[in-house]
Amino acid sequence: MSKSERLFEKALKVLPGGVSRNTIFRKPHPFYAEKGQGCYVTDLEGVTRIDFANNMASLIHGHAYPGIVDSVTKQLAKGSCFTMATESEVDYAELLCERVPSFDKIRFVNSGTEAVMAMLKASRAYTGKAKIAKVEGAYHGAYDYAEVSQTANPNNWGDIDKPNSSPVAVGTPTKALEDVVVIPFNDVERAIKILDQHKDDLACILVDLLPHRVGLIPASNAFINALHKWTREHKSLLVFDEVITFRTNYSGAQQNYDVSPDLTAMGKIIGGGFPAGALAGSDKIMKVLDPTEPKVLLPHSGTFSANPITMTAGLAAMKDFDQAAVTKLNKLAIYAKESITQAIADVGINACVTGAGSMFRIHLKAQPPKNYREAYVDKTQSALITKLLDHLFNNGVMLINTCSATLSTAMGKKEIDHLVSTLKDGFEMLKPEMT
Ligand SMILES: Cc1ncc(COP(=O)(O)O)c(C=O)c1O
Repeated sequence: MSKSERLFEKALKVLPGGVSRNTIFRKPHPFYAEKGQGCYVTDLEGVTRIDFANNMASLIHGHAYPGIVDSVTKQLAKGSCFTMATESEVDYAELLCERVPSFDKIRFVNSGTEAVMAMLKASRAYTGKAKIAKVEGAYHGAYDYAEVSQTANPNNWGDIDKPNSSPVAVGTPTKALEDVVVIPFNDVERAIKILDQHKDDLACILVDLLPHRVGLIPASNAFINALHKWTREHKSLLVFDEVITFRTNYSGAQQNYDVSPDLTAMGKIIGGGFPAGALAGSDKIMKVLDPTEPKVLLPHSGTFSANPITMTAGLAAMKDFDQAAVTKLNKLAIYAKESITQAIADVGINACVTGAGSMFRIHLKAQPPKNYREAYVDKTQSALITKLLDHLFNNGVMLINTCSATLSTAMGKKEIDHLVSTLKDGFEMLKPEMT
């Protein structure tokens, strides 16, 4: 029995299914990490792999980044959390607000889920309306409302002209489903027609500019402009989930668009490897959280929010993820995507690669999907993807379980070349099964 197998046997007795988060589950058992250094992770068996998963896109400098280790170690010796504010949250808020034009004020929380939840509640508090709209299939964390339609499938997604509000979890309140309007991605005409049916009721439209489960294809400028215009006309807000996409540009993915969001949710890389989230936006809207107002429209707290460990780590991480680092990393991703596209052509397999910034996703489809329904992975495709991921894993490469990769500044061409040659072998292996 391997060390991981032994641990999993013990874990099964105390953790549901032996895991604390379903994303890391692998058949027949998950692997257990011993240590990470830069872009490499070593498991308990002593096997080292290149880490393209980066704890689900949350590490921008890889593991044990010296700048973060030093500052967090110093802070730890002074204490990890207090029933007081600390200087670190002010310093970090200043850095992020200077970095993004749409941020006047910021409120830190502890996860992306919490950031999206706070953003939807702030939208409701500001507009006095209850409903929200979101893109079909988009992942926004675990809040009941944000979760709607996230796992829609051909049996329950309904007519594309009026996608169903389908639940993820059994027992989701019907009221939550009724209060979420689902629109198709990048489809201006259909989306506006659907929104028009709820024009007096929408607190906000929630959008991820590069939604992972929708295919990791960027939102078009036309789509975002149309949603922005609609929200101006109907006293609603346009809010962006940049929990993952904040890494795609110096000021987040929003930098690539004509219009700015009213509010932005963040998470992942802004924690420098520690649990983090944040909600940011204009003074006018962020006032709903302000305890100095005569009436606080959205009373909001969190025991570990803005704890100095996360603030110190985040500040160190983002200081070093400056414009030069963003540009360099995004160039490396372009090199990776071009090399993978070449490998696909060389092997002659029906596959393609999508993505932007420092993220990309491999699809076993001839053409890049344009929306969630086209990106949807059926059982046959899912089995092939698992086979490809297992091949990569067994050959020193770790990807996210949707066959997606995120880069870290610890990587260079050497790691990309290893990924591409391993992928190429994997494509050769799958080819006979795909024709
Ligand atoms: C776009 C997006 N929003 C929200 C979340 C939720 O973040 P967390 O897992 O930190 O709660 C995620 C997590 O993967 C995400 O990708």
